[in-house]
Amino acid sequence: MKVSIELGLSGPGAPVPLDLEELLATRLLVQGNSGSGKSHLLRRLLEQSAPWVQQAVIDPEGDFVSLAEKYGHVVVDAARNEADLHRVASRVRQHRVSVVLDMEGLDSEQQMRAAAAFLGGLFDAERDHWYPMLVVVDEAQLFAPAVGGEVSDETRKVSLGAMTNLMCRGRKRGLAGVIATQRLAKLAKNVAAEASNFLMGRTFLDIDMARAADLLGMERRQAEMFRDLQAGHFVALGPAVSRRPLPVKIGEVETGARSVTPRLLPLPEAVPQEDMQELIFTAAPDEETRLPPPPRRTPAPVPTENILSQLARATREPPREAGPPVPAMSPEERQEAIDLALKEILLDPEAGFRTAAVLYQDFLVRCRIRRITGEPLSLRAFRRRLAIAHAGIDSGELEKDGSPWGEVIAMAGQLPEDMQSVFLVLARAAHDGRACPSDAGVAHAYGSRSLGRARRLLAYMEEQGAIVCRTDGRGQRIIAIPGLAWETAPGDPHAPFETVPHGEAAE
Ligand SMILES: Nc1ncnc2c1ncn2[C@@H]1O[C@H](COP(=O)(O)OP(=O)(O)OP(=O)(O)O)[C@@H](O)[C@H]1O
Ligand SMILES: [Mg+2]
Repeated sequence: MKVSIELGLSGPGAPVPLDLEELLATRLLVQGNSGSGKSHLLRRLLEQSAPWVQQAVIDPEGDFVSLAEKYGHVVVDAARNEADLHRVASRVRQHRVSVVLDMEGLDSEQQMRAAAAFLGGLFDAERDHWYPMLVVVDEAQLFAPAVGGEVSDETRKVSLGAMTNLMCRGRKRGLAGVIATQRLAKLAKNVAAEASNFLMGRTFLDIDMARAADLLGMERRQAEMFRDLQAGHFVALGPAVSRRPLPVKIGEVETGARSVTPRLLPLPEAVPQEDMQELIFTAAPDEETRLPPPPRRTPAPVPTENILSQLARATREPPREAGPPVPAMSPEERQEAIDLALKEILLDPEAGFRTAAVLYQDFLVRCRIRRITGEPLSLRAFRRRLAIAHAGIDSGELEKDGSPWGEVIAMAGQLPEDMQSVFLVLARAAHDGRACPSDAGVAHAYGSRSLGRARRLLAYMEEQGAIVCRTDGRGQRIIAIPGLAWETAPGDPHAPFETVPHGEAAE
């Protein structure tokens, strides 16, 4: 079915159609300086295509929430935890609901994390739910910055990874990225390069113009024309719009943006200085009812590690009514008690699907019940111990003379923290010559149910040289650990995960 929407006019009575099916396959990049009309253009595209295709808008300014009233988009408030956002996104795909992810009021780190979790959820959706969907990202340079900024490297990595997945690998999954940016030079090159359709608006800086010319395959001199474009005017190029650069004035929209262009107004008549002070610093009697509440500003999240160490400290405070004194434990006793507490946690088959931070709380409670004395493990140490216990390596085995596990754990330490558990589970299976864990088993070791993520993890680890995967003649997977002559037995990658408690015969 060919469905075209009208983007605008290229001259009097000359409509410019945009082929939606083609757009789904070839993606779109919009660039233009502030005020050039990008958000207006995205709104036009969203409104016109709303009856035809499911949509998700990643909306840093909360500009697009007005689509909800007229077009029925569900507004998802991004101020919720990442696991929640990921799940909401999966349901969005399952039920084919159009949504706006409203991130107004979040700081840039929170916005990047929220976008990554949400896009990740859309991307990881089950194969049965890969319906076509437009994923519109306004201010895309915030989520796929060309260079590091004030946010942490890890945040930049997850956000950039999610945007790269959307633009490079989303098509097969039905996701069509439509991204807009003020500054091409600020947008990661690999993300920009995956769009085959372009709408270029007013651009002032030479560096952006040069990037635009490169992307469009134009002479740099020709790209000078972007300098003189008026707001709302763009040059379109690409298989979904036009095979040659085509000027277009974007059409009207039905819903309003929250942000409007400021216009100059004469200032009020001069008021004496003292009166001005009075006006500003004194509340008017009706102010409570008249003024909107201060904008939602989510406080910067306290790092989980800090909260948890506060909790840990609280648990160390002596009880008000001191009971009988707790006898100090020997280091061996303490070690054994900690091992046992960890084992108990992992006996719960659901443990693999919980984050380390949640399990840590459970662990602290168990330590208190067991009256384990001394400094509690930090979250970081707990995470490491958890990964080790998860793989079924107990401390006795670890401390044995000539134990290879110290080296294996050091190898795991070369990988990102969240992958270490997976690596150790694989190493354990290889050491024991057991069947290679299935995708579901790998996902479980990672704390996820996503098979796609499991496969990506394995690919990543292989790229890093941490493992070597191969498939035998019967389609069974074998994983070897380079540097150690260990190899798993062949295992079916598609086998379901069996919830055998860890620490016993895991997988
Ligand atoms: N085609 C158009 N027709 C009528 N008005 C338009 C058109 N395009 C843009 N405008 C108006 O111009 C102003 C700026 O547009 P818009 O907010 O879309 O810019 P922007 O490129 O998204 O800017 P920023 O990068 O700062 O977000 C808005 O008030 C918008 O309504
Ligand atoms: Mg805008």
